[in-house]
Parts: sequence; C-alpha cells; structure tokens
Amino acid sequence: MQTVNVSAHAKIILIGEHAVVYRQPAISLPLKTIRTYATLKPTTTGQIIHSELFNGDLQQVNDRLNGIKQLITTLLTRLATIDTPFDLTITSDIPVERGMGSSAATALAITKAFYAAFQQHLDEQTLLATAAISEKIVHGNPSGLDTATDNSQFPIYFIKNQCLRPLALNINGYLIVADTGIQGQTKKAVSAVQQLMHQQPQATNQLITKLGQLTNDAVATLANNELAQLGAIMNQAQVILKQLTVSSPALDHLVATAQQAGALGSKLTGGGRGGCMISLTDTKQHANTIAQQLAQNGAKQTWIVPLKND
Ligand code: MEV
Repeated sequence: MQTVNVSAHAKIILIGEHAVVYRQPAISLPLKTIRTYATLKPTTTGQIIHSELFNGDLQQVNDRLNGIKQLITTLLTRLATIDTPFDLTITSDIPVERGMGSSAATALAITKAFYAAFQQHLDEQTLLATAAISEKIVHGNPSGLDTATDNSQFPIYFIKNQCLRPLALNINGYLIVADTGIQGQTKKAVSAVQQLMHQQPQATNQLITKLGQLTNDAVATLANNELAQLGAIMNQAQVILKQLTVSSPALDHLVATAQQAGALGSKLTGGGRGGCMISLTDTKQHANTIAQQLAQNGAKQTWIVPLKND
C-alpha cells in the first residue's frame, strides 16, 4: 500500500429528486469547489479512521458509518486481505446530510483512495457500483444520481439504470443554494414516498410522472436560455415535493423568503425534510441580495452557483 490523497465533490439536484427513484429523469449539477478529501496511509497495526463523525478502529464504528464499514471491508477483500492495516483520514467541506451529496462523495473518495493506494486501475462503472455499496446502507434505495453527479465534471441528465449523459447549460442565470442547518432525512423521506406509493398508488404515480415531465420541460429551458420558464418549473416541482411530504417548515420558510426577495423559482434540493433549498435568479447582484435575505431569515450557509458550464 502507498500513501494517497484523493477527493470528490458535492452536487445539487436542479430537479427530479425522489421521482428519479421511480425511473423518472432528473437533472443535477456538480459543485466542484465544495469537496471531501481522503488520505490513506499504510500502517503496521490497526484499521484506523479519523473523521468528523468517528475516530477509531473500523470494527468499532457507530451506526452512521455502517455503510463505510461495509464499503471498506469489500475494498480490502477485493484489493488485499480483510485484515490489512490502514490509516484513513476523511475531511470535508460538504455539510453532512443536507442534500449536497456528502455521503456519496465520501464513498467515492474512499473507493478511489483504496484503488490508488493498491495501484489498481479503477474504471467509472466500477467506481460508481462500488460507492453504491455504502449508499445502499445509508439511503436504502438510492437511484445512483448522487454518486453519478459527485463523480461528474458536468451537469447531468440521469435516469436510473438507463441514462447518464452530460447536459450543456446554455442559460445565463444563477442558483443560490441555502442550508436550513437542519440535517435532512433522505432515507426516511424516500421511504415516506414509497409508503405513499403503496397507500395511494394512482395519485402518487401521477405526482411522480408530473415531476418527470417537469424535468424534461426544464431541459428545453436550459437549452434555450428561458430563465423565467425554468423558475416557474422549479416552483411547480416544489408544490409536488410538498405533496409528497418531503419538504419541511424550515425549507418552506426559506422558499417563501427567496420568492419575496424576487427569486424566479425556488425548491428544496436532494432528499428534503431538512437540508438545502435552491433559488433561481438572473444576475450575480440579485443572487447576492437573495442570499443575504436567506441568511437573515435563518439560512446557516449559502452558496452562489453560476448555471453556465465552466
Ligand atoms: C437524494 O439526494 C436524491 C433522492 O432522489 C434519492 C436518490 O435519488 O437516491 C431523494
């Protein structure tokens, strides 16, 4: 084993969260400047993890790191032996459980670190499938969108197990991402939608299908620089996400604040029930004003993201 330093970035979902679990399309964007870092070093004894959530031996990890434990066990079995000593440090700029892909970025960084440390080639398909080992434990039934976006250099159009393609954004606008500061509950939110699907299949299916249509409508607005239409689509998506019970009072409050501050559209992003929301606007100046209003009304952190591909 050799010492390696690797990283993976955050993501935001523009539209299609939750519906994507049911094979509807979604659009998401990499946030390349917000990252998780992994440093993996050889050592003589122990299998040591240093991180914000846990410090200690792999065998003693708390429940929140069960996905990572399973992932590392698989990687060691695949690349070396299960008892190989190692020293792994994870640090992250991505807030945990806020819909910004922190668990997927951690899984990707760990997978890349072990392959690099053992000098093994890692293709994209293997990387995404391996990171999914921990995502399945953390999220229950992940669509794969988070890992795909956290590993992409470009915005993507994604359909579970069917389509993963880069999307060129020909639109002059800005997204403001705002964190409620409340940890989201992706696993619970995904199973709440699943329960709705069992209890009210027809109505829930209609909502999910409508979200898929909105995603496809959004593709056209992104290609044709139709900012106001994209904003209206985001607002419609938020109404549906609320009906699916995955919004929260804190998210609703930030959505209302952004709309009052002149946003063209606002919605939650990611799993919901906490975590982050996004708002759309036309200029950097308006984005700053909206971000300021959000910060004054409870947002713990805000980021401004230009929509044009860099
Ligand atoms: C979570 O970031 C996105 C969800 O659609 C779940 C998933 O796609 O696995 C809520």
